[in-house]
Amino acid sequence: MAIVYLNGDFLPAEQAFISPLDRGFIFADGVYEVIPVYNGHLFRIHEHLRRLDDSLAGVRIPSPCDHQHWRSLLHELVQRNQGRNQSLYVQITRGVARRDHGFPEPITPTVFAMSTELKALPQTIREKGISAVTAEDIRWQYCHLKTIALLPNILLRQQALDQGAEEAILIRDGEATEGAASNLFIVSKGHIITPPKGSRLLPGITRDLIVELGKRYGLPVLEARITAAELASADEIWLTSSTKEIMPVTRLDNQAVGDGRPGPLWQQMIALYQRYKAEYTEDGHRQPETVD
Ligand code: PDD
Repeated sequence: MAIVYLNGDFLPAEQAFISPLDRGFIFADGVYEVIPVYNGHLFRIHEHLRRLDDSLAGVRIPSPCDHQHWRSLLHELVQRNQGRNQSLYVQITRGVARRDHGFPEPITPTVFAMSTELKALPQTIREKGISAVTAEDIRWQYCHLKTIALLPNILLRQQALDQGAEEAILIRDGEATEGAASNLFIVSKGHIITPPKGSRLLPGITRDLIVELGKRYGLPVLEARITAAELASADEIWLTSSTKEIMPVTRLDNQAVGDGRPGPLWQQMIALYQRYKAEYTEDGHRQPETVD
């Protein structure tokens, strides 16, 4: 039985309850993180916790604990759930209060965390890639915050599924920004391009690692805007996230991307990514600027 964390306790998921007056339930007033765990190591944990701090500050929820406390809490959750590779989900809401739009008097945030098994990307995706469709971005203007208000993302993902595709690539003002739950890279004229960070997309931890690996190994990675036309004529398209790593998109809007197979730069990048993962330890890859 899965063990979850709720407000200071570890308990079976079936025994974890929150009040219906929780502002997460009533207003989607909260933020979250998804952190992969490989061989018991919390992958890129410093970066995930920093982004969590940014999301909390962005919606003005006081941080319920410091990084050291997060780490020991999450390690305990990993141990209690066993399994070498896990996906941790952490959610903090503003807490329980009488329903009123304005912030309530200081209340205690609700803190919830759970773990699910993290499965490797299926072989068919590695060999054949996935299909994506473009969709107009219907979300708000703070897409850099990882909030639990995901209804637009859900509708956009379902729009893709209804068309027989796996993901929607979002277009805003004629530019491709990211996927419904993933960041976007294209390969065009020999360059690997991803849109610059800003309020139109989530600053993905996987995205940042790919940019970092590109720079480290001399691959031509560029942060630049991508027009819908550039997306449509890209040689390769990748979608990235903590749970799906780097997925090659081989069909876009029912047209083949490049020659319709995962491309050579994707092959190179996924190999670098897998190597980084295999060598990763929580302190081993710590960069001076990422120290808490
Ligand atoms: N989603 N953009 C959006 C809108 C996302 O929801 C996600 C991840 C990403 C990729 O970010 P990262 O590399 O840090 O996982 C980009 C998670 C996995 C989810 O909602 O389940």
